[in-house]
Amino acid sequence: MAPARATGAMAAAAAIAIAVVSYCYSCKSKKRSNLNFFFSKKKKLEPRKGVVDAIGNTPLIRINSLSDATGCEILGKCEFLNPGGSVKDRVAVKIIEEALESGKLTEGGVVTEGSAGSTAISIATVAPNYGCKCHVVIPDDAAIEKAQIIEALGATVERVRPVSITHRDHFVNVARRRALEANELASKHQNTAFKDGKDMEYINGHGSNEAKESSTFPSDCTGGFFADQFENIANFRAHYEGTGPEIWEQTGGCLDAFVAAAGTGGTVAGVSRFLQEKNSNIKCFLIDPPGSSLFNKVTRGVMYTKEEAEGQRLKNPFDTITEGIGINRLTQNFMMAKLDGAFRGTDREAVEMSRYLVKNDGLFLGSSSAMNCVGAVRAAQLLGPGHTIVTILCDSGMRHLSKFYDAQYLSLHGLTPTATGLEFLGIK
Ligand SMILES: Cc1ncc(COP(=O)(O)O)c(C=O)c1O
Repeated sequence: MAPARATGAMAAAAAIAIAVVSYCYSCKSKKRSNLNFFFSKKKKLEPRKGVVDAIGNTPLIRINSLSDATGCEILGKCEFLNPGGSVKDRVAVKIIEEALESGKLTEGGVVTEGSAGSTAISIATVAPNYGCKCHVVIPDDAAIEKAQIIEALGATVERVRPVSITHRDHFVNVARRRALEANELASKHQNTAFKDGKDMEYINGHGSNEAKESSTFPSDCTGGFFADQFENIANFRAHYEGTGPEIWEQTGGCLDAFVAAAGTGGTVAGVSRFLQEKNSNIKCFLIDPPGSSLFNKVTRGVMYTKEEAEGQRLKNPFDTITEGIGINRLTQNFMMAKLDGAFRGTDREAVEMSRYLVKNDGLFLGSSSAMNCVGAVRAAQLLGPGHTIVTILCDSGMRHLSKFYDAQYLSLHGLTPTATGLEFLGIK
Protein backbone atom coordinates (compact mmCIF):
# COMPACT_ATOMS: atom_id res chain seq x y z
CA MET A 1 0.00 0.00 0.00
CA ALA A 2 1.37 3.47 -0.86
CA PRO A 3 2.10 5.75 2.08
CA ALA A 4 -0.66 8.29 2.77
CA ARG A 5 1.58 11.27 1.80
CA ALA A 6 2.48 9.68 -1.57
CA THR A 7 -1.17 8.85 -2.25
CA GLY A 8 -2.10 12.47 -1.48
CA ALA A 9 0.60 13.76 -3.80
CA MET A 10 -0.54 11.40 -6.56
CA ALA A 11 -4.13 12.50 -6.13
CA ALA A 12 -3.09 16.17 -6.27
CA ALA A 13 -0.99 15.54 -9.40
CA ALA A 14 -3.89 13.69 -11.02
CA ALA A 15 -6.27 16.54 -10.17
CA ILE A 16 -3.89 19.10 -11.72
CA ALA A 17 -3.45 16.93 -14.82
CA ILE A 18 -7.21 16.56 -15.18
CA ALA A 19 -7.65 20.32 -14.75
CA VAL A 20 -4.99 21.06 -17.41
CA VAL A 21 -6.39 18.49 -19.84
CA SER A 22 -9.96 19.69 -19.35
CA TYR A 23 -8.86 23.33 -19.75
CA CYS A 24 -7.09 22.45 -23.02
CA TYR A 25 -10.04 20.35 -24.12
CA SER A 26 -12.47 23.13 -23.28
CA CYS A 27 -10.32 25.62 -25.24
CA LYS A 28 -10.26 23.25 -28.22
CA SER A 29 -13.97 22.54 -28.12
CA LYS A 30 -14.68 26.23 -27.69
CA LYS A 31 -12.56 26.88 -30.76
CA ARG A 32 -14.39 24.16 -32.69
CA SER A 33 -17.78 25.61 -31.92
CA ASN A 34 -16.49 29.14 -31.75
CA LEU A 35 -19.58 30.81 -33.15
CA ASN A 36 -21.84 29.10 -30.63
CA PHE A 37 -19.41 29.97 -27.86
CA PHE A 38 -19.00 33.62 -28.73
CA PHE A 39 -22.66 34.25 -29.24
CA SER A 40 -24.12 32.02 -26.53
CA LYS A 41 -23.17 34.51 -23.82
CA LYS A 42 -26.22 36.39 -22.67
CA LYS A 43 -26.20 39.87 -24.10
CA LYS A 44 -26.71 42.75 -21.69
CA LEU A 45 -30.16 43.91 -22.64
CA GLU A 46 -30.80 46.54 -20.00
CA PRO A 47 -30.55 50.19 -21.11
CA ARG A 48 -27.11 51.79 -20.86
CA LYS A 49 -27.05 54.90 -18.71
CA GLY A 50 -26.08 57.56 -21.23
CA VAL A 51 -23.43 57.75 -23.91
CA VAL A 52 -20.49 57.13 -21.59
CA ASP A 53 -22.08 53.92 -20.31
CA ALA A 54 -22.51 52.78 -23.92
CA ILE A 55 -18.75 52.85 -24.50
CA GLY A 56 -16.90 49.54 -24.44
CA ASN A 57 -18.27 46.00 -24.25
CA THR A 58 -18.01 45.98 -28.03
CA PRO A 59 -18.65 42.72 -29.90
CA LEU A 60 -15.82 40.40 -30.83
CA ILE A 61 -16.59 38.95 -34.25
CA ARG A 62 -15.13 36.08 -36.23
CA ILE A 63 -13.81 37.48 -39.49
CA ASN A 64 -15.06 34.60 -41.56
CA SER A 65 -13.12 35.19 -44.76
CA LEU A 66 -9.73 35.50 -43.06
CA SER A 67 -10.45 32.63 -40.66
CA ASP A 68 -11.46 30.29 -43.49
CA ALA A 69 -8.48 31.32 -45.62
CA THR A 70 -5.89 30.81 -42.86
CA GLY A 71 -7.35 27.94 -40.84
CA CYS A 72 -7.12 30.12 -37.74
CA GLU A 73 -9.90 31.82 -35.84
CA ILE A 74 -9.32 35.48 -36.64
CA LEU A 75 -11.43 37.66 -34.35
CA GLY A 76 -11.93 41.41 -34.60
CA LYS A 77 -12.92 43.61 -31.65
CA CYS A 78 -15.51 45.97 -33.13
CA GLU A 79 -14.34 49.25 -31.63
CA PHE A 80 -15.91 51.13 -34.54
CA LEU A 81 -19.25 50.42 -32.83
CA ASN A 82 -18.47 52.72 -29.89
CA PRO A 83 -20.76 55.81 -29.79
CA GLY A 84 -17.94 58.13 -30.93
CA GLY A 85 -17.07 55.67 -33.68
CA SER A 86 -13.66 54.44 -32.53
CA VAL A 87 -11.43 52.72 -29.99
CA LYS A 88 -10.55 56.19 -28.67
CA ASP A 89 -13.88 56.61 -26.84
CA ARG A 90 -12.46 54.48 -24.02
CA VAL A 91 -9.37 56.64 -23.86
CA ALA A 92 -11.30 59.92 -23.83
CA VAL A 93 -13.44 58.75 -20.90
CA LYS A 94 -10.47 57.50 -18.90
CA ILE A 95 -8.41 60.66 -19.48
CA ILE A 96 -11.27 62.97 -18.50
CA GLU A 97 -12.34 60.92 -15.48
CA GLU A 98 -8.78 60.69 -14.11
CA ALA A 99 -8.26 64.44 -14.67
CA LEU A 100 -11.50 65.27 -12.85
CA GLU A 101 -10.60 62.93 -9.99
CA SER A 102 -7.17 64.52 -9.60
CA GLY A 103 -8.63 68.05 -9.71
CA LYS A 104 -6.52 69.00 -12.73
CA LEU A 105 -9.77 69.46 -14.65
CA THR A 106 -12.97 70.88 -13.26
CA GLU A 107 -16.50 71.18 -14.60
CA GLY A 108 -16.61 74.08 -17.05
CA GLY A 109 -13.01 73.42 -18.10
CA VAL A 110 -11.72 72.83 -21.60
CA VAL A 111 -9.93 69.65 -22.61
CA THR A 112 -7.38 70.35 -25.33
CA GLU A 113 -5.83 67.75 -27.58
CA GLY A 114 -3.52 67.54 -30.55
CA SER A 115 -5.01 64.72 -32.55
CA ALA A 116 -5.21 63.68 -36.16
CA GLY A 117 -8.79 62.76 -35.59
CA SER A 118 -10.20 59.85 -33.65
CA THR A 119 -9.20 60.88 -30.13
CA ALA A 120 -10.43 64.39 -30.76
CA ILE A 121 -13.77 63.09 -32.00
CA SER A 122 -14.05 60.93 -28.90
CA ILE A 123 -13.16 63.77 -26.50
CA ALA A 124 -15.63 66.06 -28.28
CA THR A 125 -18.27 63.33 -27.94
CA VAL A 126 -17.83 62.65 -24.22
CA ALA A 127 -16.68 66.03 -22.82
CA PRO A 128 -20.22 67.50 -22.57
CA ASN A 129 -21.20 64.52 -20.40
CA TYR A 130 -18.76 65.88 -17.81
CA GLY A 131 -19.76 69.54 -18.25
CA CYS A 132 -16.53 70.24 -20.14
CA LYS A 133 -15.60 71.72 -23.51
CA CYS A 134 -13.14 70.49 -26.09
CA HIS A 135 -10.53 72.33 -28.20
CA VAL A 136 -8.69 70.39 -30.88
CA VAL A 137 -5.52 71.16 -32.80
CA ILE A 138 -5.26 69.05 -35.93
CA PRO A 139 -2.72 68.82 -38.80
CA ASP A 140 -4.23 70.18 -42.01
CA ASP A 141 -3.35 67.06 -44.03
CA ALA A 142 -5.75 64.87 -42.02
CA ALA A 143 -8.95 63.82 -43.82
CA ILE A 144 -11.27 66.86 -43.91
CA GLU A 145 -14.32 64.93 -42.68
CA LYS A 146 -12.61 64.48 -39.30
CA ALA A 147 -12.37 68.26 -38.67
CA GLN A 148 -15.97 68.62 -39.87
CA ILE A 149 -17.19 66.01 -37.41
CA ILE A 150 -15.29 67.59 -34.48
CA GLU A 151 -16.81 70.99 -35.23
CA ALA A 152 -20.27 69.48 -35.63
CA LEU A 153 -19.84 67.97 -32.17
CA GLY A 154 -19.46 71.48 -30.76
CA ALA A 155 -15.70 71.52 -30.23
CA THR A 156 -13.41 74.25 -31.53
CA VAL A 157 -10.86 73.20 -34.16
CA GLU A 158 -7.52 74.73 -35.09
CA ARG A 159 -5.88 73.37 -38.27
CA VAL A 160 -2.10 73.77 -38.44
CA ARG A 161 0.65 72.84 -40.90
CA PRO A 162 2.19 69.42 -40.17
CA VAL A 163 5.69 69.96 -38.75
CA SER A 164 8.10 67.89 -36.67
CA ILE A 165 7.25 67.17 -33.03
CA THR A 166 10.34 69.15 -32.04
CA HIS A 167 8.82 72.32 -33.59
CA ARG A 168 6.89 74.55 -31.21
CA ASP A 169 3.98 74.65 -33.67
CA HIS A 170 3.52 70.90 -33.97
CA PHE A 171 -0.17 70.26 -33.30
CA VAL A 172 0.58 68.46 -30.03
CA ASN A 173 2.68 71.38 -28.76
CA VAL A 174 0.03 73.92 -29.77
CA ALA A 175 -2.62 71.92 -27.91
CA ARG A 176 -0.42 71.85 -24.78
CA ARG A 177 -0.05 75.66 -25.00
CA ARG A 178 -3.77 76.17 -25.41
CA ALA A 179 -4.44 74.35 -22.12
CA LEU A 180 -1.99 76.69 -20.36
CA GLU A 181 -3.72 79.69 -21.95
CA ALA A 182 -7.08 78.45 -20.71
CA ASN A 183 -5.63 78.15 -17.21
CA GLU A 184 -4.22 81.67 -17.40
CA LEU A 185 -7.56 82.99 -18.59
CA ALA A 186 -9.39 81.22 -15.78
CA SER A 187 -7.10 82.57 -13.06
CA LYS A 188 -7.19 86.07 -14.56
CA HIS A 189 -10.94 85.86 -14.65
CA GLN A 190 -11.09 84.64 -11.07
CA ASN A 191 -8.78 87.45 -9.90
CA THR A 192 -10.87 90.06 -11.69
CA ALA A 193 -14.20 88.71 -10.52
CA PHE A 194 -13.25 88.34 -6.89
CA LYS A 195 -10.97 91.38 -6.53
CA ASP A 196 -11.46 92.78 -3.02
CA GLY A 197 -14.23 90.22 -2.52
CA LYS A 198 -16.47 92.16 -4.89
CA ASP A 199 -17.89 91.13 -8.25
CA MET A 200 -16.62 94.43 -9.72
CA GLU A 201 -16.12 93.45 -13.36
CA TYR A 202 -19.40 91.66 -13.86
CA ILE A 203 -22.25 93.34 -15.68
CA ASN A 204 -25.39 91.25 -16.06
CA GLY A 205 -23.38 88.13 -15.40
CA HIS A 206 -20.78 88.80 -18.14
CA GLY A 207 -17.04 89.17 -17.48
CA SER A 208 -14.76 91.91 -18.79
CA ASN A 209 -13.94 92.12 -22.50
CA GLU A 210 -10.23 92.16 -21.75
CA ALA A 211 -10.35 88.59 -20.50
CA LYS A 212 -12.50 87.46 -23.42
CA GLU A 213 -10.25 88.91 -26.08
CA SER A 214 -7.10 87.36 -24.69
CA SER A 215 -8.05 83.84 -25.66
CA THR A 216 -9.95 81.52 -27.95
CA PHE A 217 -11.85 80.28 -24.91
CA PRO A 218 -15.03 81.64 -23.34
CA SER A 219 -14.44 83.87 -20.33
CA ASP A 220 -16.41 81.53 -18.06
CA CYS A 221 -13.95 78.72 -18.77
CA THR A 222 -12.73 77.25 -15.46
CA GLY A 223 -9.34 76.17 -16.81
CA GLY A 224 -7.65 73.93 -19.32
CA PHE A 225 -6.40 70.37 -19.32
CA PHE A 226 -4.13 68.93 -21.99
CA ALA A 227 -5.32 65.36 -22.65
CA ASP A 228 -1.87 64.33 -23.95
CA GLN A 229 -2.93 60.95 -25.30
CA PHE A 230 0.66 60.07 -26.29
CA GLU A 231 2.23 60.48 -22.84
CA ASN A 232 -0.74 60.27 -20.48
CA ILE A 233 -0.91 56.63 -19.37
CA ALA A 234 -4.58 56.91 -18.55
CA ASN A 235 -4.65 55.88 -22.23
CA PHE A 236 -2.81 52.62 -21.42
CA ARG A 237 -5.09 52.06 -18.41
CA ALA A 238 -8.22 52.40 -20.56
CA HIS A 239 -7.09 49.31 -22.46
CA TYR A 240 -5.48 47.47 -19.56
CA GLU A 241 -8.67 47.80 -17.53
CA GLY A 242 -11.19 47.69 -20.42
CA THR A 243 -10.26 46.30 -23.81
CA GLY A 244 -7.87 43.62 -22.49
CA PRO A 245 -10.25 42.13 -19.90
CA GLU A 246 -13.12 42.20 -22.42
CA ILE A 247 -11.06 40.22 -24.96
CA TRP A 248 -10.09 37.75 -22.25
CA GLU A 249 -13.71 37.28 -21.21
CA GLN A 250 -15.09 37.12 -24.74
CA THR A 251 -12.65 34.38 -25.74
CA GLY A 252 -12.99 32.54 -22.44
CA GLY A 253 -9.23 33.02 -22.12
CA CYS A 254 -8.72 30.78 -25.17
CA LEU A 255 -6.59 32.86 -27.49
CA ASP A 256 -3.11 32.36 -28.83
CA ALA A 257 -2.19 35.78 -30.16
CA PHE A 258 -3.05 39.46 -30.23
CA VAL A 259 -1.87 41.85 -32.91
CA ALA A 260 -2.29 45.60 -33.43
CA ALA A 261 -0.59 48.65 -34.86
CA ALA A 262 0.42 51.55 -32.62
CA GLY A 263 -0.23 55.27 -32.83
CA THR A 264 0.16 56.35 -29.24
CA GLY A 265 0.74 52.70 -28.33
CA GLY A 266 -2.06 52.75 -25.73
CA THR A 267 -4.07 49.91 -27.27
CA VAL A 268 -1.25 47.50 -27.99
CA ALA A 269 0.37 48.22 -24.61
CA GLY A 270 -2.76 47.93 -22.46
CA VAL A 271 -4.07 44.80 -24.17
CA SER A 272 -0.71 43.02 -24.50
CA ARG A 273 0.23 43.64 -20.89
CA PHE A 274 -3.15 42.47 -19.58
CA LEU A 275 -3.22 39.32 -21.73
CA GLN A 276 0.37 38.35 -20.97
CA GLU A 277 -0.24 38.77 -17.25
CA LYS A 278 -3.20 36.42 -17.61
CA ASN A 279 -1.29 33.90 -19.72
CA SER A 280 2.31 34.44 -20.72
CA ASN A 281 1.88 32.00 -23.64
CA ILE A 282 -0.31 34.47 -25.51
CA LYS A 283 1.87 35.96 -28.22
CA CYS A 284 1.52 39.69 -28.77
CA PHE A 285 2.62 41.31 -32.01
CA LEU A 286 2.92 44.78 -33.47
CA ILE A 287 2.10 45.49 -37.11
CA ASP A 288 3.95 48.60 -38.21
CA PRO A 289 3.09 50.81 -41.22
CA PRO A 290 5.66 52.38 -43.57
CA GLY A 291 7.66 55.24 -42.06
CA SER A 292 7.29 54.06 -38.47
CA SER A 293 10.30 53.07 -36.36
CA LEU A 294 8.56 50.77 -33.92
CA PHE A 295 9.25 47.61 -35.96
CA ASN A 296 12.96 48.29 -35.50
CA LYS A 297 12.49 48.95 -31.81
CA VAL A 298 10.62 45.69 -31.22
CA THR A 299 12.80 43.47 -33.41
CA ARG A 300 16.25 45.05 -32.95
CA GLY A 301 15.95 47.25 -29.89
CA VAL A 302 16.78 50.47 -31.76
CA MET A 303 14.34 53.01 -33.12
CA TYR A 304 16.19 54.52 -36.06
CA THR A 305 19.39 55.65 -37.60
CA LYS A 306 20.49 59.15 -36.52
CA GLU A 307 19.23 60.62 -39.79
CA GLU A 308 15.75 59.15 -39.33
CA ALA A 309 15.21 60.50 -35.80
CA GLU A 310 12.18 62.71 -35.41
CA GLY A 311 13.27 66.34 -35.58
CA GLN A 312 16.22 65.55 -37.89
CA ARG A 313 14.16 65.57 -41.03
CA LEU A 314 14.06 68.79 -43.03
CA LYS A 315 10.36 68.52 -43.63
CA ASN A 316 7.57 66.15 -42.75
CA PRO A 317 7.94 63.30 -45.24
CA PHE A 318 5.02 61.41 -46.75
CA ASP A 319 5.32 57.95 -45.29
CA THR A 320 1.98 56.19 -45.35
CA ILE A 321 -1.64 56.66 -46.33
CA THR A 322 -2.80 54.92 -43.15
CA GLU A 323 -4.02 57.30 -40.44
CA GLY A 324 -3.55 57.20 -36.67
CA ILE A 325 -0.78 54.59 -36.67
CA GLY A 326 3.00 54.65 -36.94
CA ILE A 327 5.37 56.85 -34.97
CA ASN A 328 9.06 57.75 -34.75
CA ARG A 329 9.39 58.29 -31.04
CA LEU A 330 8.89 56.14 -27.97
CA THR A 331 5.83 57.20 -26.02
CA GLN A 332 5.15 56.48 -22.34
CA ASN A 333 2.18 54.42 -23.48
CA PHE A 334 4.09 52.29 -25.97
CA MET A 335 6.77 51.63 -23.39
CA MET A 336 4.19 49.70 -21.32
CA ALA A 337 3.73 47.11 -24.11
CA LYS A 338 4.83 43.48 -23.78
CA LEU A 339 5.53 42.29 -27.30
CA ASP A 340 6.90 39.06 -28.73
CA GLY A 341 7.54 40.34 -32.22
CA ALA A 342 6.55 42.69 -35.01
CA PHE A 343 5.52 42.63 -38.67
CA ARG A 344 5.83 45.31 -41.27
CA GLY A 345 2.72 46.16 -43.28
CA THR A 346 2.58 48.10 -46.54
CA ASP A 347 0.04 50.63 -47.76
CA ARG A 348 -0.84 48.32 -50.65
CA GLU A 349 -1.59 45.46 -48.25
CA ALA A 350 -3.82 47.73 -46.15
CA VAL A 351 -5.73 48.99 -49.19
CA GLU A 352 -6.18 45.50 -50.66
CA MET A 353 -7.23 44.12 -47.26
CA SER A 354 -9.87 46.84 -46.81
CA ARG A 355 -11.46 46.01 -50.17
CA TYR A 356 -11.24 42.26 -49.54
CA LEU A 357 -13.10 42.65 -46.22
CA VAL A 358 -15.82 44.81 -47.76
CA LYS A 359 -16.31 42.29 -50.55
CA ASN A 360 -16.21 39.12 -48.46
CA ASP A 361 -17.45 40.09 -44.99
CA GLY A 362 -19.32 43.38 -45.40
CA LEU A 363 -16.75 44.95 -43.08
CA PHE A 364 -16.18 48.58 -44.05
CA LEU A 365 -13.12 49.53 -42.03
CA GLY A 366 -10.64 52.38 -41.69
CA SER A 367 -7.00 52.18 -42.71
CA SER A 368 -5.60 51.20 -39.29
CA SER A 369 -8.14 48.38 -38.93
CA ALA A 370 -7.20 47.10 -42.38
CA MET A 371 -3.54 47.17 -41.34
CA ASN A 372 -4.42 45.29 -38.14
CA CYS A 373 -6.11 42.59 -40.23
CA VAL A 374 -2.95 42.32 -42.35
CA GLY A 375 -1.14 41.76 -39.04
CA ALA A 376 -3.66 39.10 -37.99
CA VAL A 377 -3.05 37.16 -41.23
CA ARG A 378 0.73 37.51 -40.76
CA ALA A 379 0.35 36.11 -37.23
CA ALA A 380 -1.77 33.23 -38.58
CA GLN A 381 0.91 32.46 -41.16
CA LEU A 382 3.58 32.50 -38.47
CA LEU A 383 1.70 30.34 -35.95
CA GLY A 384 0.02 27.98 -38.43
CA PRO A 385 -3.59 26.72 -38.59
CA GLY A 386 -5.63 26.03 -35.46
CA HIS A 387 -4.79 29.18 -33.52
CA THR A 388 -7.05 31.96 -32.29
CA ILE A 389 -5.86 35.46 -33.11
CA VAL A 390 -7.48 38.69 -31.95
CA THR A 391 -7.09 42.14 -33.45
CA ILE A 392 -8.74 45.55 -33.18
CA LEU A 393 -11.18 47.05 -35.69
CA CYS A 394 -10.45 50.64 -34.65
CA ASP A 395 -12.81 52.73 -36.77
CA SER A 396 -15.09 52.54 -39.78
CA GLY A 397 -14.33 53.35 -43.42
CA MET A 398 -16.80 56.23 -43.23
CA ARG A 399 -14.05 58.36 -41.65
CA HIS A 400 -11.78 57.67 -44.63
CA LEU A 401 -13.86 58.46 -47.71
CA SER A 402 -11.75 61.34 -49.02
CA LYS A 403 -8.45 59.43 -48.97
CA PHE A 404 -8.26 55.72 -48.22
CA TYR A 405 -11.52 55.00 -50.09
CA ASP A 406 -11.04 57.59 -52.83
CA ALA A 407 -10.12 56.06 -56.21
CA GLN A 408 -8.40 59.22 -57.46
CA TYR A 409 -6.31 59.61 -54.31
CA LEU A 410 -5.20 55.98 -54.46
CA SER A 411 -4.37 56.19 -58.16
CA LEU A 412 -2.22 59.27 -57.45
CA HIS A 413 -0.18 57.17 -55.04
CA GLY A 414 -0.06 54.11 -57.30
CA LEU A 415 -2.25 52.17 -54.90
CA THR A 416 -5.31 51.29 -56.99
CA PRO A 417 -6.48 47.92 -55.62
CA THR A 418 -6.20 45.00 -58.05
CA ALA A 419 -6.31 41.83 -55.93
CA THR A 420 -9.08 39.29 -56.36
CA GLY A 421 -8.31 37.35 -53.18
CA LEU A 422 -5.54 37.35 -50.56
CA GLU A 423 -2.72 36.86 -53.07
CA PHE A 424 -1.14 40.11 -51.83
CA LEU A 425 -0.35 38.18 -48.60
CA GLY A 426 0.82 35.08 -50.43
CA ILE A 427 -2.45 33.15 -49.98
CA LYS A 428 -3.79 31.51 -53.17
C1 LIG B 1 -8.12 55.24 -36.23
C2 LIG B 1 -7.01 54.87 -35.29
N1 LIG B 1 -6.61 53.61 -35.25
C3 LIG B 1 -5.60 53.23 -34.44
C4 LIG B 1 -4.96 54.11 -33.63
C5 LIG B 1 -3.82 53.62 -32.78
O1 LIG B 1 -4.19 53.36 -31.48
P1 LIG B 1 -3.22 53.72 -30.29
O2 LIG B 1 -3.12 55.20 -30.23
O3 LIG B 1 -3.88 53.14 -29.09
O4 LIG B 1 -1.89 53.10 -30.57
C6 LIG B 1 -5.36 55.43 -33.65
C7 LIG B 1 -4.69 56.41 -32.80
O5 LIG B 1 -4.96 57.59 -32.83
C8 LIG B 1 -6.41 55.82 -34.49
O6 LIG B 1 -6.81 57.09 -34.55
